[in-house]
Amino acid sequence: MITTQYSAQIQEALHQFHHDRGELVPILRHLNDAIGYLPKDVLAEVSERLHVSESHVYGVATFYSMLSTEKKGQFAVKLCESAPCHVVGGREVIKAIKTHLGIDAGETTADGKFSLDMVSCLGVCGVGPVMMVNSETYGNLTPEKAIEILSAL
Ligand code: FES
Repeated sequence: MITTQYSAQIQEALHQFHHDRGELVPILRHLNDAIGYLPKDVLAEVSERLHVSESHVYGVATFYSMLSTEKKGQFAVKLCESAPCHVVGGREVIKAIKTHLGIDAGETTADGKFSLDMVSCLGVCGVGPVMMVNSETYGNLTPEKAIEILSAL
């Protein structure tokens, strides 16, 4: 049996969702929120306990932008780079955030406070440009508003 340092969190997530393999996405979301990301040994233990192949669990964990198999900063910033956000000023917002944080997409600040990732859509295209910080979504951004939000964290 696989066990990780996160076995208690895994047990809690499985219990909350009744060990139902059909609830794999919310189980992984719960664990991602509890741990901060989804380490490989956590995915292996979830796979074993739900009797679902590791490749399937890994596929789900890497498909959704709200899940991550890599450790992120305390504040995980996701920026939409798709056309609907782009045409209403998204490029300027992205440029301002990269400059403000001093990192590029896929990087984490040296103090571990912020990580930055680009995503194709955050599901709220009508209020672009959009960014998500952890599970909070911010829309109608301008470069100034985005910097103000990040500076307050
Ligand atoms: S295109 Fe930006 S949120 Fe959907």
